[in-house]
Amino acid sequence: MTSPVNVTVTGAAGQIGYALLFRIASGQMLGPETPVRLRLLEIPQGVKAAEGTAMELDDCAFPLVAGIDIVDDPTVGFDGANVALLVGARPRGPGMERGDLLEANGGIFKPQGQAINAGAADDVRVLVVGNPANTNALIAASNAPDVPTDRFTAMTRLDHNRALTQVAKKAGVPVSEVRRLTIWGNHSATQYPDLFHAEVGGRPGTELTDDRAWLEQDFIPTVAKRGAAIIDARGASSAASAANAAIDHVHDWVLGTPEGDWTSAGVVSDGSYGVPEGLISSFPVVSQNGAWEIVQGLEISDFSRGRIDASVGELDDERAAVRQLGLV
Ligand code: NAI
Repeated sequence: MTSPVNVTVTGAAGQIGYALLFRIASGQMLGPETPVRLRLLEIPQGVKAAEGTAMELDDCAFPLVAGIDIVDDPTVGFDGANVALLVGARPRGPGMERGDLLEANGGIFKPQGQAINAGAADDVRVLVVGNPANTNALIAASNAPDVPTDRFTAMTRLDHNRALTQVAKKAGVPVSEVRRLTIWGNHSATQYPDLFHAEVGGRPGTELTDDRAWLEQDFIPTVAKRGAAIIDARGASSAASAANAAIDHVHDWVLGTPEGDWTSAGVVSDGSYGVPEGLISSFPVVSQNGAWEIVQGLEISDFSRGRIDASVGELDDERAAVRQLGLV
């Protein structure tokens, strides 16, 4: 057995935390051979509920769990962390403007970035789930100057998985036969799910994109507005599917993406595809040897260009707003 990996989960007492921790503990994130030491980071009001979750984790008697700590101090929470899942965030309250939301989340992700900088393990990998995920990841990364920026990522895997299923249903093929789909841009309603390079049941994705009415009026809005549709139906936001996507993201980051396919993740832009350097934007990515790489050389159609630019423009505006607030 290898030595335990330290996994810190913020917002551990929330609904995603509840769906996530048991899957990490069972080995679905890092593989069945890798023990984990879990650190549940909450705010003081969330500690008691996190203790309840920890009791249930104990009651599962997972052989891979080497220990569980519950903390409310980020400095302690990220000390020695190898994997950090930043799930806890401030939701948009009534009457809150976008600037207020960014500022409130800055109050969470700035100190968390600083704590990761101060004490996380040298190989730390960070996934930001809490919204607005891309810009929260940017805030955390900017406040961790000693950690390579490419260790900070934002979750668009849920959008990717949602798109896979929509395409599979439309084409009447299993999800496993949909490959090379991309989510570009922000994890928001402006995101762009791109099928132009996809392979669907062994056929080019352009056979689907030729149906512009379906593409523009059905597929893209269904994927982009799926979160709202779940809230409408369930009376609560996506939790199990969000946790599943976080598991997929870290699994593929650490253990690699399948040969011949790629996935989507919010990673720091190196200027690829005209996305301004430094933004944390969703791209087509592969992971090899534990590092994400942006898939290069894809031809971007005019249709895609407009959509990508719109979503990236929103990210640029968010960066300008958090700059003005002194958060990055
Ligand atoms: P929730 O409200 O059930 O739980 C959030 C938890 O975070 C609470 O227990 C709260 O006490 C805790 N928390 C708040 N501030 C914290 C801090 N500074 N440190 C540690 N913990 C803190 O929310 P839920 O449903 O679990 O969602 C969490 C976040 O994930 C939300 O921001 C949501 O918008 C986002 N989300 C992102 C998705 C994505 O695809 N990127 C998909 C679905 C949700």
